[in-house]
Amino acid sequence: MQGRLTAPQIREAKGERKLTMIAAYDYPTAKLLDQSGMDMLLVGDSLAMTVLGHEDTLSVGMEEMLHHTRAVARATEYSLVVGDMPFLSYQTSREQAVYNAGRFLKEGRAQAVKLEGGRPVLPQVEAIVASGIPVQGHLGLTPQSTAQLGGFKVQAKSAVTAGKLIEEAHALAQAGCFSIVLEAVPAEIAEKVAEEIPVPVIGIGAGAACDGQVLVFHDLVGLFQGTPPKFAKQYVNLADAVSEAASRFKTEVEEGTFPAEEHSFFLPREERNKL
Ligand code: KIV
Repeated sequence: MQGRLTAPQIREAKGERKLTMIAAYDYPTAKLLDQSGMDMLLVGDSLAMTVLGHEDTLSVGMEEMLHHTRAVARATEYSLVVGDMPFLSYQTSREQAVYNAGRFLKEGRAQAVKLEGGRPVLPQVEAIVASGIPVQGHLGLTPQSTAQLGGFKVQAKSAVTAGKLIEEAHALAQAGCFSIVLEAVPAEIAEKVAEEIPVPVIGIGAGAACDGQVLVFHDLVGLFQGTPPKFAKQYVNLADAVSEAASRFKTEVEEGTFPAEEHSFFLPREERNKL
């Protein structure tokens, strides 16, 4: 793998190959994902739920996002790092949006930012792009708006709402987004969006016709307890593996079989003889 992918390269990949993105939040995970050739690593605000234990994404702020973005950026040489702009870091004004997007690049060392929403955030998208920062859009289920959407629900299920979503995808592409995440929308609608707009559509719960797919790391590797979201495929069950490792450690310490000789340090013989 040669050098780090750029936002223009991601954009140009449309129609050439399928793109992959994983939401990840820490150095060791990002290093493995980077080495596996992931196109993009998203430091998602899903951090709030997957890693910090909040019930939604609203509570996470700029400082926490930057802290994790720096760790992911340090770990990567190939994947494009996208910093996810948290709730209230871009909604209130274009100036605030540009300033916080800039912090993701300047302090977080990301190469792009993502923000949620359509028409209402177009001025922000245009202003961030105009300041030289690549922007990824996010339509469909936008978790920062679940209070308004009435929960984590599939979006664009009627002809009217689907038409609005398609129109907003066009507007985001026109405003300069290099790609758009489409979350929890019917596969037929995602297919239409991917066909119509000139930038890659990265789906999550949006069917197979998208130009790429994104999954949250903890869903991919089963590192949580409870029911996985319908759209997530769990490729390994790390929750069981971690529980199993922890109980074996506890048992072996209690039984006295850990640490063994190979895990211990010993004095040189001459020093031992002086004791
Ligand atoms: O925060 C996140 O992880 C996301 C992905 C689900 C796209 O926005």
